[in-house]
Amino acid sequence: MSEPDTREPGDLLWDYLKGFHAVHHMAIGTELGLFEAIHKAGEGGCAPLDLAAKLDLHPPYVDVWCRTGYHYGLLEEGDSGCFRLGTMVDKLLVDAGDPRNLAPYIISTARYGSDDLRSYTEHFKTGGTHRFQEHGEDFSRHVGATTSGFHTVVAKRMLGGIPGLKDKLEAGASVLDVGCGIGGLMIKIAQAWPNSRCHGVDIDPHGVEAAQGIIADSDVADRVTVATVDESGIGREGEFDLAVMFEVLHEIDDGIRPDVVKDVARSLKPGGMLFILDETYPSDLEGLRDPGYNFAVQTQFNELIWGNVVPTIEMQTALFEGAGLTEIIREPIGGIFTMLVAQKE
Ligand SMILES: C[S@@+](CC[C@H](N)C(=O)[O-])C[C@H]1O[C@@H](n2cnc3c(N)ncnc32)[C@H](O)[C@@H]1O
Repeated sequence: MSEPDTREPGDLLWDYLKGFHAVHHMAIGTELGLFEAIHKAGEGGCAPLDLAAKLDLHPPYVDVWCRTGYHYGLLEEGDSGCFRLGTMVDKLLVDAGDPRNLAPYIISTARYGSDDLRSYTEHFKTGGTHRFQEHGEDFSRHVGATTSGFHTVVAKRMLGGIPGLKDKLEAGASVLDVGCGIGGLMIKIAQAWPNSRCHGVDIDPHGVEAAQGIIADSDVADRVTVATVDESGIGREGEFDLAVMFEVLHEIDDGIRPDVVKDVARSLKPGGMLFILDETYPSDLEGLRDPGYNFAVQTQFNELIWGNVVPTIEMQTALFEGAGLTEIIREPIGGIFTMLVAQKE
């Protein structure tokens, strides 16, 4: 049996409170450009007064924000009276192209996560929902920013590493992105594999509308298309070499999930593959305290009122079996996701 956290109960709760404030500290610093300005100032760092002047902010507040950041280990002492970024903070909070960048996730947690969580006490009484698609276009764009760090890794390294798939993508594959959101992954796939084409579908009209604009402005607009679908599905048969679902399986209403996976399987050519990168929920109490499931447990709680049910390994397996797909790869990724690849006979 997994042991509970060994910190004193009082310390544990104080640490959780500190985490809450640290998330908001990081979101504020990102949204106001404070981390970026300190990064630009280089190794010697920047004095709070200069930082406030540069960004046109209230100097005493910026001063306390800097001291608090130092307390959290996000900032370090620079030249006299200055603060510089802590180790890795440039990669984790400033560099938008780095797959480890957590800034979009931190901002959406502080902004949308807080709004959702505040409504839980009411929703717990009624079982009511506030679904992903009801949050609006700004939210859909934020989710796209949150996932974008991973898109390059998925498009090139992960898909290219699946035996038998690289040759198909190089030669020119037909790719379906189920739950494509604002289309970031399709653009990266089309850029990584110049002979391949992508078609994205989503039930979120806000995401699809944003995707249409983003694709039109990209250099792959001639090979990427997108459409809104309703929950009755995609309705295509034997058309795609590959279907991808990134952060989507757990978002599909569990009442219709078996039908959606069957519909996706139908849309694949014989030998076609379904690639999934998603959270797997622990199947037992022991798993709930296994650090490998941290993100899945957190996601299930954060997305409870979106109506999401994060599937366990048993649920994922049953979905593939029910759709006539054979699981060929299952691999934990970065202590966050499970990579699943299933193939049609
Ligand atoms: C977390 S977002 C991920 C979006 C995108 N894959 C990305 O990488 O940014 C999950 C998406 O799945 C979509 N979705 C949920 N149920 C769906 C369904 N039945 N069919 C198609 N898309 C669905 C949501 O609308 C949302 O856009």
